[in-house]
Amino acid sequence: MCGIVAYIGHREAYPVVLKGLKRLEYRGYDSTGVALLNGGSLKVYKKKGKVAELEDFVLGKDLKSHISIGHTRWATHGEPNDRNAHPQLSGDGKLAMVHNGIIENYAQLKQELLNKGHQFTSDTDTEVLIHFIQEIKSSNQCSTEEAVRIALKRVVGAYVILIVDEDDPDTLIAARKGSPLVIGVGKGEHFLASDASPIVEYTKEVVYVNDYEIAIVKADELILKNISNEIQTPYIQKLDMELAAIEKGGYAHFMLKEIFEQPQTIFDSLRGRLDAKGGKLTLGGLREHMDLLKEANRIIIVACGTSWHAGLVAEYMIEELCRIPVEVEYASEFRYRNPVVGKGDVIIAVSQSGETADTLVAMESAKEKGAIILGVCNVVGSSIARLSNGGVYTHAGPEIGVASTKAFTAQLAVLSLIGLKIAQEKGTITAQRFQHLLDELESVSEKVATALQLNAQIKKIAEKYKDARDFLYLGRGYNFPIALEGALKLKEISYIHAEGYPAAEMKHGPIALVDEQLPVVFVATKDSYYEKIVSNIQEIKARKGKVLAVTTEGDQVIPAMADDVIVVPEADELVAPIISVIPLQLLAYHIGVLKGYDVDKPRNLAKSVTVE
Ligand code: M6R
Repeated sequence: MCGIVAYIGHREAYPVVLKGLKRLEYRGYDSTGVALLNGGSLKVYKKKGKVAELEDFVLGKDLKSHISIGHTRWATHGEPNDRNAHPQLSGDGKLAMVHNGIIENYAQLKQELLNKGHQFTSDTDTEVLIHFIQEIKSSNQCSTEEAVRIALKRVVGAYVILIVDEDDPDTLIAARKGSPLVIGVGKGEHFLASDASPIVEYTKEVVYVNDYEIAIVKADELILKNISNEIQTPYIQKLDMELAAIEKGGYAHFMLKEIFEQPQTIFDSLRGRLDAKGGKLTLGGLREHMDLLKEANRIIIVACGTSWHAGLVAEYMIEELCRIPVEVEYASEFRYRNPVVGKGDVIIAVSQSGETADTLVAMESAKEKGAIILGVCNVVGSSIARLSNGGVYTHAGPEIGVASTKAFTAQLAVLSLIGLKIAQEKGTITAQRFQHLLDELESVSEKVATALQLNAQIKKIAEKYKDARDFLYLGRGYNFPIALEGALKLKEISYIHAEGYPAAEMKHGPIALVDEQLPVVFVATKDSYYEKIVSNIQEIKARKGKVLAVTTEGDQVIPAMADDVIVVPEADELVAPIISVIPLQLLAYHIGVLKGYDVDKPRNLAKSVTVE
C-alpha cells in the first residue's frame, strides 16, 4: 500500500526520493508525487499512474532542492487521479504533506474546517489533515511542530505523515501511529521511508519511529518527541539488509528470484535454531513464554492471506504434536466478532510484513483481553514484531514480489520449530519422533532445491493450461492449506478464478463444476491421507476432469491416473508442505507471465495491507 519517502541533506533531493519511490513500487499504488523545497519556494508535482509517468511529467521542470517528500498512493478516499495524489497542500499553500493510513474522523474534521471557510481541492482525508494542522498553526500562532502535536491528539486512525513547510525550509516533520516509519541516519543527511528499501544503499544506521512519536528532522539533527512533547532518545539500530536483496539479480522478476531463493531462505530460517546432529532446538524468543505455551488452554493463530495458510498448516501440526487445541482465525473476522479470549490463551500472529492492519488490530484487542501475543514475522522491527510479547523472526529477507512465496515457506519452517519445541517441553513427543522431525527439517532445503529443478517441466504444463477459465486445487490434511495457497497464488498473478478445497469436501458441492474443461490440481504427496486422495482423483477422472497431480517420487498409482504429474522428493507429512508448495508457486508464476501480466505488481494488490 502507500509508500512514503523523504530526504534532507547535502545531496540533490529529487533523485534520492525518485529512486526511493521506485524501490517502494512493490507495495502497490496507483498515483505518485513529490514536493520539493528550495529556499522559500515549494514545488509539488504529482500524477496518476506509475513513477515513470511522474518522471516524464517533471522533465524540464525546476527540481533543485535539498529537502523533499515523496509518495506512492493506493487509493482509499477518492479515486486515483492527479488531484487526489499526494502531496496535499494546506489552505495557504505553505505546508505540503504525504500520508499513509486512514484518518477515520476526517468527515467530522472536514465539516469543522468547512464551517471555518476552508475549501478543498481533493477527496482525500490527507488534505483534511493538513488543512487542520494549518488551521491550528494560524489560530494558535504556533510552530508547525506544535500544530502537528495538537492536531494528532484529535486524529482517530492510523497514519504516518511527512510535512515540509515553506516557512521553515531546513526542517522535515514526521509522525506515526500504526503505519511504519524508518529513518536512515547518514552523515549530515537523513532518509525517511515506509521501509528500509529506499534507505539501505545510503546508510545502515536506522531508527524505527514508535507510535505517537514526532520526529523533527534536519540535515544534521534528529529530534524525537512523544505526543506530550517529551524528548525521546532515538535508538539507532544496524540494518540487517543488503542492497542485492532488493534487486532482481539477473532474474526476470522478483517473484521468480524469491521462489529460487527458497533453499537458502529456509536454511536461514532454521539457522542457529535447529541442531539436528546435537538433537537440539533453540528458540530464544520463546524461552520466557514456554511455561505459558505448555500450559496454554488454546493457541489462536491470527493472520491474513498466505500467512493464514501457514497458520492452517501449523494448526494440524501443533494439535498433533502438542495436544493443544489450535484455532486459526482470519484476523479481520477475529477482531470484530467479539471473540472469547483471555488469560491462558496464547495468540500467534503470523505476518510477512509485520504491518498488516487487520492482524495488528486483532492482536491489540486480544492483548487488551489479557492474552499473551507471540509474533512470527519476517520484517525486523515491524509493528507486529514490536507489539508481540515474544516470537520468532522468519529471516526470509526482503520479499518484494507482491505474491508471497519465500516468506511462506520460512513461516512453515519456523512454525514447525515452534510446534516441535512446545511438544518437546511438554513431553508430548517421543525422543525418536522428535529426532526424526529434526532430521527431516535439516534436509528440507535440499529437497526444495530438487523441486526447483522442475521449473522447465512446469513451464510446459503452464503453457498447456494457461487458457483455462477456472481451476480447482484439492488437498487433504497437511496439504489442504497448500491447495488453498496454490489457488491464491494463481488468482493473484494470473487473474484466473481458482478455488482451493479439502479434497473430500469437493463431493459436497464443487464437483458440480467438473467437466473436461476444468483443470483440477491435486496436492497428493505420500502421507496418511494418500489412499483417500487416490479415490478423490478417481472421482474427478470419472467425470472427465483434467487432473494435474503433485506426487512423491516412487508413486506409481497416481501417475497412471493423472493427465500431468509433477514429482517432488519424499518427506514426512509435517514437512512435506514446504516442498509441495514449490511447484504450485512456479505454475502460478509461469501462467501469469505467459498471459503477459506484471507478476511482481498484480493489479489492485498491495504488498503490505495497512488499512483495515
Ligand atoms: O504481510 P502479511 O503476511 O501480514 O500479509 C498478509 C496478506 O496480505 C498476504 O499474505 C497476501 O495474501 C499476499 N498477497 C499473498 O501472496
